[in-house]
Amino acid sequence: MQSRISDFKSHVGQSATIKGWAYNVRSSGSIAFLQMRDGSGFTQAVVSKQGVDEASWTAASTATIESSVIITGTVTKHPKQEGVFELQASSVQLVQKAEEYPIGKKEHGPDFLLDNRHLWLRAPAQWAIQRVRDAIIHATYDWMRDHGFTKIDAPILTPTSCEDTTELFKIDYFGERTAYLTQSGQLYLEAAIASVGRCFDFGPVFRAEKSKTRRHLIEFWMMDAEAAFVEHEENLKIQEELVSFIVQRVLETCDAELKILERHVEPLKKVAPPFYRLTHAEAIKKLRELGSDIGDMDDLGADDETKLTEQFDKPIFIEKYPAAVKAFYMKRDPADPSRVLNADLLAPEGYGEIIGGSQREDDYDALVARLREHKLSEDAFKWYLDLRKYGSVPHSGFGYGLERLVAWICGLHHVRETIPFPRLLNRLEP
Ligand code: 4AD
Ligand code: MG
Repeated sequence: MQSRISDFKSHVGQSATIKGWAYNVRSSGSIAFLQMRDGSGFTQAVVSKQGVDEASWTAASTATIESSVIITGTVTKHPKQEGVFELQASSVQLVQKAEEYPIGKKEHGPDFLLDNRHLWLRAPAQWAIQRVRDAIIHATYDWMRDHGFTKIDAPILTPTSCEDTTELFKIDYFGERTAYLTQSGQLYLEAAIASVGRCFDFGPVFRAEKSKTRRHLIEFWMMDAEAAFVEHEENLKIQEELVSFIVQRVLETCDAELKILERHVEPLKKVAPPFYRLTHAEAIKKLRELGSDIGDMDDLGADDETKLTEQFDKPIFIEKYPAAVKAFYMKRDPADPSRVLNADLLAPEGYGEIIGGSQREDDYDALVARLREHKLSEDAFKWYLDLRKYGSVPHSGFGYGLERLVAWICGLHHVRETIPFPRLLNRLEP
C-alpha cells in the first residue's frame, strides 16, 4: 500500500512504500540518498548497496533529478533533526528516469522560470504556495458556510460589464453578438440574494488591463460575497472576520509551508478584528504627510497603497472614496453625496488592496441616474434594474482577489507565483 510522507511521524518503525519524485540525488560507492517528494511532503530515502537487491541498487544509483521512483522501506527518525523522518530503503523501482532537468541549482531569472512553469510548479516553494492557496480556498468555503452564505455560481460569459468597461475581454458569440468574460460575479449575486439571502461565488475573472505591476494578473480568481439587509458597517465586519479566520487557519495548518517560504509569521498573528479604518480623506492627508502630492479626490495608486500600508501592522480599510473614481453600483454616502459607501481593504507590510467592496445602490431612480452618468446602457442593465423594482433591500458585498491574498499571506513580492499558470500582459504560455 502507498504511504504518504506526511504520515511518517505516526509510522516510525513500520514499513512504508512511497511513490514520488527524487528532487535531489547523491550516491557514493555503497550508499545512495534520494531526496523524495510525493506531494504530501519531503523525505530522504537512504539506500545501502548491501541492504537491497541488485536491481534496486541500480535504480537508486542511476536515478537522476526528477526521476519518478517507488521506494519501500522502514520509516525511521532522523538521528539528529527533531520532527524529521527518513526511509531506510529495502527496494527501489525507477518508474521513469528523467532527462537532465532544466531547472538547476543556479539562480534563474523570472522569465526562464515562467517559461518552465509546468516544471517550476514542483519546486518546494511553489508547492508551499499552492498549498497555502488551497488552505485559503477551503477556509473561505468553511467560513462562508458557517455564516449562512450559499455558494452561487455566477456566469463566466456575460452580456455586460461589471467594472471598468475599458478592461473587458470580448468574445465573438456565434458571429451574432459580442459577449464578455466576467470581471466579477457581483451583479448576479445581487440577484441571488433575493433567493438565498447571503451568497458567494468563487471563480476565474478576467481583466484586459494593460498593466504590468506586481499586483496584476489578466486572469485571476475572485471570491465575491453579497448579503441582503447588510449595510456598510456590517459589510466591513464580515470582511474583517473572514480575513482573520483565513489567516489564522493558514497559520494553524500550513506551518511547514510557511517555513519553506521563510514567511515571518509575527505580522500574520496580529491579524484579528478590528482592522484599522481610515476615510479616503484621512488617507489622502496621511499620504501628503508621507510626501505624496496626491489630490483630494484622486484614487489611490499602487504606490500610494504601498506607502500607506507600510505604516500599519494590521489590514486597513479605506472608506468612502470619491464617487467619481468608483463603480456605478456603489451607494452614495448620505452624509456626503460626492462620496460612496465603499471600502477597499489594504493588506499591511506594503501589500495594498486585497478586497474591494461597498453598499450597493438599491433605489431604482438613483441607479438609473448612475448608469447614465457612467454612460452605461439602461437596456443592457434592465434585469439588474428589475432587482430595484421587485422587493429592493439595502445590501452590500465585496470581492477578494485570491492571488493578492496568497501573495500577502505567503510574503511574496509578485502575484505571478500565486496562481498555477499565470496569464500576464506578455504571457499566455505555458
Ligand atoms: O476591486 P475590484 O475590481 O472589485 C470588484 O470587482 C467588485 N465587483 C467586487 C465586489 O464587490 N463583489 O476587484 C476585487 C479584488 C481587488 O480588491 C483585488 O484584490 C483583486 O480583486 N483584483 C485583482 N487581482 C489580480 N489582478 C488584477 N488585475 C486584479 N484586479 C482586481
Ligand atoms: Mg478595487
